Amino acid sequence: MDSMFLNRLGVAFLLSGVGVWVCYAAGAAFVPHTAPAKPAFSLPGLENKPIAPFMAHADVERGDALVHQVCTSCHAVNDGASDGVGPNLAGVAGRQIAGLSGYSYSQSLKGQHGHVWSDQALSDWLTSPSRFAPGTRMSLVGLHDPAQRADIIAYLHTLGDADAPAPAPEPKVTP
Ligand code: HEC
Repeated sequence: MDSMFLNRLGVAFLLSGVGVWVCYAAGAAFVPHTAPAKPAFSLPGLENKPIAPFMAHADVERGDALVHQVCTSCHAVNDGASDGVGPNLAGVAGRQIAGLSGYSYSQSLKGQHGHVWSDQALSDWLTSPSRFAPGTRMSLVGLHDPAQRADIIAYLHTLGDADAPAPAPEPKVTP
């Protein structure tokens, strides 16, 4: 092996290194580095649907019936009533997430504290509680019908404030 051969070997390595770098630089220049803004496909039912269009047609009475069918086994809905398995839902619409001082929320829901239960947040939560807050203690599979979610959210808006004291008994009117 003479030194000329070693020189050629060195130059060959150097040139192939430069070649690889040029290919990489050219590729990077032509192909943008960004991930696609929208996923190429989405699984049905897993995307967050905007709830606003459904709120326009929401029916408070249907929501009332649904909440009493599905939610009140775990949740109180009256002002000042004590929490059940879940926190009192009175005043929940527009309240801070995990915002009742007397209820001990899961770490997962507490992690969302600082955000507010907007209509969209409630809709995403009710679509799949475990996807909204993985590890939540609310064991509800989720409601996949956006019209039903809108009815429920419209009903939640009619409820009072859970932190308010229980309404005082009617004063007795003596004749
Ligand atoms: C099996 C019992 C159960 C049922 C049924 C249930 N929930 Fe819950 N819910 C919970 C529990 C437990 C929590 C607290 C979750 C946590 O801390 O992770 C909760 C939390 C919530 C919260 C968050 C409240 C806050 O103060 O941040 C909302 C809103 C809510 N539930 C709405 C509903 C609605 C609406 C329904 C009916 C469609 C419903 N839940 C049905 C058990 C239930």
